[in-house]
Amino acid sequence: MSDWPSHGGRPEQVLPRLGLAAERSVTDFSANLNPLGPPSWLAQWIAAGVAELAVYPDPDYREAREAIARHEGLAPEQVRLTNGGAEAIFLAAALLARRGVGRALIVQPTFGEYQRACHHYGIEVANFALVEECFVLDEARACEAMREAGALFLCRPNNPTGTLVERELIERLLAEGQRQGTTLVVDEAFVDFVIRDERLTPLLARYDNLLLLRSMTKLYAIPGLRLGYLLGSAEAVGSIAQLQPPWSVNALAAGLVAPLLSDHDYLTQTRAWLDAERPWLQGELEALGLSVVPSHANFLLLRHGGARSMTALLEHLARCGILVRHTHNFIGLEGAWLRVAVRSRPENRTLVEAVARWSAP
Ligand SMILES: Cc1ncc(COP(=O)(O)O)c(C=O)c1O
Repeated sequence: MSDWPSHGGRPEQVLPRLGLAAERSVTDFSANLNPLGPPSWLAQWIAAGVAELAVYPDPDYREAREAIARHEGLAPEQVRLTNGGAEAIFLAAALLARRGVGRALIVQPTFGEYQRACHHYGIEVANFALVEECFVLDEARACEAMREAGALFLCRPNNPTGTLVERELIERLLAEGQRQGTTLVVDEAFVDFVIRDERLTPLLARYDNLLLLRSMTKLYAIPGLRLGYLLGSAEAVGSIAQLQPPWSVNALAAGLVAPLLSDHDYLTQTRAWLDAERPWLQGELEALGLSVVPSHANFLLLRHGGARSMTALLEHLARCGILVRHTHNFIGLEGAWLRVAVRSRPENRTLVEAVARWSAP
């Protein structure tokens, strides 16, 4: 099953595997992007900023970092702007390798890039499984396992389960990490979708063994533009600055940071949409016999309450013009589950109707 694409949002790779034309038009539930699309002012903003492409961006991205620092309540020295959350992951691994970390624990099932980044920098990986079905973290086992590792990678809310390790438990892991010399790398790529404000930023004041990774591409639906950032102690962020290739973020993306962060209406609309749609979609899918993991994010992990094959459902949906995310390359899931993004009500309804046709006796 290794030739399944390793990320969502690639219909042209999945459809031919299912015997369907690569160019067939589908509604994409396989990538976890905000269905509101980029803020309405963005296209015009970019058109007006095209002249900036003729000039090198500030290699330190001072303005963008100051905007993020204000937004997060941190000093600019604690912020590094990155080319999406993906670059932040690789920079975190580069820092760990530079500090001599030889072994990292990755809380699974989760986003595959932590493993790739560790391997890229010669860091050995040990997988730490969440408790099956409910996908909670066993604290005692985690503390025990941390003894053998210089770093722990954890995603919150977690892709693909949508589960959120609570802040108090993270704090206890950080305290344990301080005793044992373990750094926690917490990827909060989806945290801005969480209805309650759950960000871990305040913990940076007390724990210098915490690195936080963020993505702006999901929330603002700009995966083609790429934007993310990394937060940590001034010392860690200073070292990361030395490891980052120069000008890795383009001028338009960097210039967008401040206006995006100050668009409060967009965030309010996003949260109102998710607040309404996630419970609705979950309820409808459960009523059709699917088990859905309770999610804090903008996607749902599900499987059949009986034993029906999720690959069969994925194929059925693709034939109905709906692409969902397979789980063949999520460690511990191996295709037995599917992940679906929460989209607009009409799109979610189309998904539910297609699942109903598959579920009908
Ligand atoms: C958990 C997680 N972190 C980071 C990323 C990468 O984000 P970006 O597109 O901003 O590089 C993804 C993308 O799917 C993700 O799921």
